[in-house]
Amino acid sequence: MTDAPAPYEGPRRILSGMQPTGQLHLGNYLGALKNWVALQDGEAECFYCAVDMHAMTVPYEPAALAKAVRGVTAAYLAAGVDPARSAIFAQSAVPAHAELAWILQCVARLGWLERMTQFKDKAGKDAERASVGLFTYPVLMAADILVYKATEVPVGEDQKQHLELARDVAARFNRDFAGGRTVLPMPDPVILGTGARIMSLKDGTSKMSKSDPSDNSRINLHDDADTIARKIKKAKTDPEPLPETVEGLEARPEARNLVGIFAALTGRTSADVLAEYGGQGFGAFKPVLADAAVQFIAPISEEFGRLMADPAEIDRVLTKGAERANAAAAPVLAEVRDLVGYWRA
Ligand code: AMP
Ligand code: TRP
Repeated sequence: MTDAPAPYEGPRRILSGMQPTGQLHLGNYLGALKNWVALQDGEAECFYCAVDMHAMTVPYEPAALAKAVRGVTAAYLAAGVDPARSAIFAQSAVPAHAELAWILQCVARLGWLERMTQFKDKAGKDAERASVGLFTYPVLMAADILVYKATEVPVGEDQKQHLELARDVAARFNRDFAGGRTVLPMPDPVILGTGARIMSLKDGTSKMSKSDPSDNSRINLHDDADTIARKIKKAKTDPEPLPETVEGLEARPEARNLVGIFAALTGRTSADVLAEYGGQGFGAFKPVLADAAVQFIAPISEEFGRLMADPAEIDRVLTKGAERANAAAAPVLAEVRDLVGYWRA
């Protein structure tokens, strides 16, 4: 694809999603959700979904899926996503995602998917036994985005490669089906500087993740104050005091992570944090960090608890969100169906 893409004339639109698997944690918030909330203040229309269809790509419990969708929805709301401004919905409630995904599977090339590192990580050694859905996962993600002609996608660092694939798919679709017109815009990732990659509390070289079997590796958005304080106290560190400068964090992944978390929580830079706390040991720094985390999470956790006790309220949000999302996706899908040559009476 050497031709320069034609400029896109349509409106800006934001889309993002998270999987309804496990509990949302501080990495999800600082890496992505925080940005979702901030972007609502802009001009662009926002679409935020619980990607339940992506959750099916690995073994899962059907009887628990709908509840998990309500769970991530409650976390979005508790974190400040506003259903009056943003469409909040379940991916499976908007069939246009699945329909566009099929079309885009015929646009994406096998070689593009074979390069995806997340598939390699998730499939593990026995890739032959992985579901086909796990392999085509990034194409469904491209459909999630392109079915709204979204122009910006707020995500953590780990989703960069999937966004590049979505751009390749859009460009190829435009070339093959629209004579090079920019029917589907190339979505830009929106990735925060601090917070884009929060690491595990147990190992500063692996990312904080919902799927880590150790709950002590992460701070969940619903953890209470005592749990947060205990997890931070137990967090892995090294014996050295904090350095005075960011360069001093280089070979110290755990120290770098804790300083980064504190910086992201308090809206400061790591350099600024070290200017204040450099020279102090973790015995002094950890309680300060725990206080900041508790202050930050307590209101989110409280609101999350309130919402989870009121599933009818969550369902109302999801119903209204699905209506808005279906209405926004319909004209895009109709345009794409015509371009690929589907029959129409
Ligand atoms: P996931 O938990 O994999 O469904 O991810 C949901 C969103 O949170 C995506 O935008 C991720 O990039 C982001 N995210 C997940 N884990 C982290 C982390 N440890 N640090 C920063 N962002 C994260
Ligand atoms: N793959 C993303 C993750 O694991 C979730 C996701 C699915 C997504 N569809 C999306 C993110 C569309 C942004 C836009 O975090």
